[in-house]
Amino acid sequence: MCGIFAAITQRNIMNILIDGIKKLEYRGYDSSGLAIIDHDNNMVRIRCIGKVDELIRKIQKKKILGHIGVAHTRWATHGKISKANTHPHVSKNIIVVHNGTIENYSVLRIFLQKKGYIFYSDTDTEAIAHLLHWEQNKKKESIEQVIQNSIKQLYGNYSMVVIDKNNPTRLIAARSGSPLVIGLGIEENFIASDQIALLNLTKRFIYLEEGDIAIIKKKEINIFNKKNFKIKRKETISNIKYKSIKKGKYSYYMEKEIYEQPASIRNTLKNRVQKNNTIYFSELQFKKKNLLYYAEHIQMVACGTSYHAAMVSRYWFEAFAKIPCDVEIASEFSSRKIAIRKKSFLITLSQSGETADTLSALRYSKKFGYLGNLTICNMEGSSLVKESDSYILTRAGIEIGVASTKSFTTQLTVLLMLVAQIAHFKKENKIAEKIIETLHILPQRIEEVLKKNELIKNIAKKLSNKKNILFLGRGEQYPIAMEGALKLKEISYIHAEAYAAGELKHGPLALIDKNIPVIIIAPKNSLLEKIKKNIKEIYSREGVIYIFSDQEFNVEKNIHLVKLPYIEELIAPIFYIVPLQLLAYYIALNKGKNIDQPRHLAKSVTVE
Ligand code: F6R
Repeated sequence: MCGIFAAITQRNIMNILIDGIKKLEYRGYDSSGLAIIDHDNNMVRIRCIGKVDELIRKIQKKKILGHIGVAHTRWATHGKISKANTHPHVSKNIIVVHNGTIENYSVLRIFLQKKGYIFYSDTDTEAIAHLLHWEQNKKKESIEQVIQNSIKQLYGNYSMVVIDKNNPTRLIAARSGSPLVIGLGIEENFIASDQIALLNLTKRFIYLEEGDIAIIKKKEINIFNKKNFKIKRKETISNIKYKSIKKGKYSYYMEKEIYEQPASIRNTLKNRVQKNNTIYFSELQFKKKNLLYYAEHIQMVACGTSYHAAMVSRYWFEAFAKIPCDVEIASEFSSRKIAIRKKSFLITLSQSGETADTLSALRYSKKFGYLGNLTICNMEGSSLVKESDSYILTRAGIEIGVASTKSFTTQLTVLLMLVAQIAHFKKENKIAEKIIETLHILPQRIEEVLKKNELIKNIAKKLSNKKNILFLGRGEQYPIAMEGALKLKEISYIHAEAYAAGELKHGPLALIDKNIPVIIIAPKNSLLEKIKKNIKEIYSREGVIYIFSDQEFNVEKNIHLVKLPYIEELIAPIFYIVPLQLLAYYIALNKGKNIDQPRHLAKSVTVE
């Protein structure tokens, strides 16, 4: 949440800053701003409400030359969306961009106001700027020393980059709770919230760790850990191709990412199935002996779409690997007193690996004596990967659209592989082999369902003007109904709710009338007859029904069949989300919404 980009360059910095912050827009797009120290050693600060394009428009008319600067794109936390609250924030010579929240900011604000500082914004970031200025003037120290001492006074999550206008030869970055990655150039260096912003500048990266402070000059970088010891952090070479983060022929990243799913799933499966039909995750190295396999219970924790993936896998863990499994929303898990099950193992799921609620849940779980923990994550250098005992990568590739698509289907693919692995360990060989065999067909099946896009487009036309839509599913299709509803509401702003179909008669049936379309996921499985009964219940109350199925149904007035290709039952949840993603996409497109950047949302939710 919020994107930070900063650089110290040989070339003129303006286009680099603009380009970098534009690439981080998915992290927040309420407002954006930048500050540069120009050739006359003046600070030039430009800020505006709205998307980065607004900032670009504002800058176009100006000719500003400089070699050091910071930029920021905001997702508002402290203080409304306004120019005054937009970063960078300044206190005389100190310029700050910040991502995160400072919990004790009101105490700091009162303290600093008493010292004579005037606050022009409602943000916690301005308190950081004034605090650094106050400390610097009190002790007459260098800005790096000041930051090292002052951050002890900040409680909360943050990553920040600071420039001292009185010595504009370096950027000072501090990480505590939100990610920062340094990009190494030739006699110039960069830092950003995500390597996506740096891929066109360099392939060489250094990820800062929790508590690190980095002093970044043109030709030199020094990093200090939380104990203030100078340390060397590992340099990694990224193999992500810059081309892969371009939209190419697609109108939106979400569309591209939906269509990438067969390739992403192929990548997720690649080299993980052994010759003897067992699963091997090369990165899955447990610090302790493979405790997951001896667990008597699995506790899964995640948010949003990742939570829905966990919910689907609960059906699989219990049915195929014969292991009891509970799933909880991360923010709930970490806000209650846990009674841990006997021999329980914790699994977190996250696309970004930076979701604050999931990270807090992992940290909180460490108090309770879980056998161990594992994260299933898309981002290798992320905080969740670093802080977990072990990890499995989903290999979806970079996902930029705020609405998760390919990260969901690759999470499900990994989860099903893990279920097969545990099933094997428990000598449930038949089912393990059946899963593996079926997973091989999955990418091809997704290709087949993607070809139904025209059919889905037509359904989208019928639904685009609706105010409310219900989604129903049974068994492992219930979380798919939830995920379908989430996709629709987040990008089209249509109110959508999902129910377990059996739950309908316990209340929601009262909602049914001709104005609320009901989308029902009804593949061929042991629950089909029950779902048919639910369809009758809705039909006899004049409900308008859209059945997504590979089966034939009597199509009558008010019953529409969205006939989909055949799918094996084992992989049906991974398959059925795809038409629902397309449906949400086409409805949002018809409504003219900004699909990749839905209002009020951001891709990586780094605040609790
Ligand atoms: C919905 C969506 C969010 C995320 C949630 C968790 O499309 O993207 O609900 O799934 O914020 O994010 P990660 O998976 O990065 O932990």
